[in-house]
Amino acid sequence: MSDIAQQENDLLIAIASAKDEAGLEAVRVAALGKSGSVSALLKTLGAMTPDQRKVQGPAINGLKDRVTAAIAAAKDALGAATLDARLRTETVDVTLPVRDAPVEAGRVHPISQVTDELTAIFADMGFAVAEGPDIETDDYNFTKLNFPEGHPAREMHDTFYFSPKPDGSRLLLRTHTSPVQVRTMLTQKPPIRVIIPGRTYRSDSDQTHTPMFHQVEGLVIDKGSHLGHLKWILEEFCKAFFEVDSVKMRFRPSFFPFTEPSLEVDIQCKRDKGEIRFGEGEDWLEILGCGMVHPNVLRNCGLDPAEYQGFAWGLGIDRIAMLKYGMNDLRAFFEADVRWLAHYGFRPLDFPTLAGGLSP
Ligand code: DAH
Repeated sequence: MSDIAQQENDLLIAIASAKDEAGLEAVRVAALGKSGSVSALLKTLGAMTPDQRKVQGPAINGLKDRVTAAIAAAKDALGAATLDARLRTETVDVTLPVRDAPVEAGRVHPISQVTDELTAIFADMGFAVAEGPDIETDDYNFTKLNFPEGHPAREMHDTFYFSPKPDGSRLLLRTHTSPVQVRTMLTQKPPIRVIIPGRTYRSDSDQTHTPMFHQVEGLVIDKGSHLGHLKWILEEFCKAFFEVDSVKMRFRPSFFPFTEPSLEVDIQCKRDKGEIRFGEGEDWLEILGCGMVHPNVLRNCGLDPAEYQGFAWGLGIDRIAMLKYGMNDLRAFFEADVRWLAHYGFRPLDFPTLAGGLSP
């Protein structure tokens, strides 16, 4: 075998056995690079006689062309193999469900959802939101609301008290959102139209009571506010909240120290295998307390009962959340079990609005 044929043979073997593109490149440099073996052969042409060149020229150039072609073919093959290997490890199954982004995976607690829902409803009727502290004075939680010292109505509240201060006064965890009525009347001039959602506390725990729970208070003070307005507001609220066309409501006489007259409100419902439906049926379900603000409360808050009158109501948020969304154990609301929340929670981007619909 001539030297050229031998060299071609060796190079083709080296090309065929290159395992990757880097190995192939090394073979190319060794053969066709500036000081490669094929380049060295080409350089010998200059020193040859024309006759020798006639024979060697085509032989050496032929070698160069074939080696170049073999390298190009091997390069294509190695590139295709590398791509195949990558495609095999980087498969994407486009039929898999899209994984939620963190902001979509989180869930809104039903209490927050219901608070947002009722805020949307009352905001539409022109109510502002007022807030007050969870730790209250006895004066705001009871005395200014016309609970006289030693009155039995105080006992009914199962109050959590803090240790007495040196002057004998005791702070407490507010037992209802009503003290924020006092705070509002002391700081705002009528006409007043507010709702007060918030946490409240009583020493009580069973399937329908937890030591911490939520209420929403409503307060309207103006010169001519009367029970007819209250009735209309509550009916419109219940229809909007339970998303039904009509509700029947029953107003029963009751007693609260801070209202006169005082009423309790039931809504008509139908109980069917543990499910409750509103706007039909023969059963009644108590949902809130309300009344005309007692003249003593108005006076305690610096308003003249001869000039102003108004009404108020208090409603359990947890209770109406359970009714609307079919949950039967209040305690689960506060156990922070993410499985429960994943089931009963709401998608954060489904914010309730009257225009877009309250519940998803
Ligand atoms: N504060 C009362 C409670 O916790 C509820 C209530 C009743 C609030 C009548 C009111 C009202 O504003 O007028 O049981």
